[in-house]
Amino acid sequence: MPPKVTVSGLSIAFGTTRALDRVSLTVNDGEFVSIVGPSGCGKSTMLNVIAGLLPPSEGGTRVAGIDGNGPGSRIGYMFQKDTLLPWATALENVCLPMDVKGARDWHKARALMQLVDLAGFEAHYPRQLSGGMRKRVQLARLLAQDPEVLLMDEPFGALDAQTRLIIQEEFLKIWERQRTTVLFVTHDLQEAIAMSDKVVLISARPGRIKASYPVDLTRPRHMEDVLAHPRFIALFQEIWASLKHEVLAARERPA
Ligand SMILES: Nc1ncnc2c1ncn2[C@@H]1O[C@H](COP(=O)(O)OP(=O)(O)OP(=O)(O)O)[C@@H](O)[C@H]1O
Ligand SMILES: [Mg+2]
Repeated sequence: MPPKVTVSGLSIAFGTTRALDRVSLTVNDGEFVSIVGPSGCGKSTMLNVIAGLLPPSEGGTRVAGIDGNGPGSRIGYMFQKDTLLPWATALENVCLPMDVKGARDWHKARALMQLVDLAGFEAHYPRQLSGGMRKRVQLARLLAQDPEVLLMDEPFGALDAQTRLIIQEEFLKIWERQRTTVLFVTHDLQEAIAMSDKVVLISARPGRIKASYPVDLTRPRHMEDVLAHPRFIALFQEIWASLKHEVLAARERPA
């Protein structure tokens, strides 16, 4: 089966800033791939190109067999920042992707609220929810699209450590049931390893693929077990040595 997501020879320049340099990677059908790399190395830029929001300077992307991907491809994108509509209730926010297609399905939206453990909060507005709850509404909205591919940009980055651990557990559980293809950007290396089938390390700007690490931990996984697993610890030490090098390099590089 061909890969679900293909990035080939992708370069992006913003004026004189070279953000990405000849990046190639693939994500197979049903695979969970995480991207780690220092701040500013081009992770969000890469997701934007894959989502069709930004044209590549060189090279290209393919999603589910569609080049450069127009509106036809079913991509769910969870942006780095909170994107809930403040004037719509949680349930209405979850319905949004269905509204766009002209097929609002309250039943499905309620089921998704339940899936992310928010039954009872359907009528709440985003301002009445905690940060973690808002992230879960975003997750439900993402799943309401029935996406073939999930692009997630630091989806749990803004949460406190305890809430993050709970949401990671929940998301892992949902994902292991559905096995949607995921490309996941995170600064949290533990999260990247614990969730993924593969961790891809991008270098300091201009972003290049530095290494790719298969994660050979069995599934289903539970965060607390995984974090204590000797294989997890060995992988963490190996990837962190390399990532740390890039983070330090990025700090010394002018903007
Ligand atoms: N629209 C834009 N115009 C000009 N420069 C941009 C634009 N978007 C991104 N850049 C630059 O491209 C580089 C990569 O940015 P990007 O947001 O992709 O990094 P990132 O890896 O997602 O960082 P972070 O981990 O902090 O989110 C940065 O140097 C940034 O300043
Ligand atoms: Mg980013």
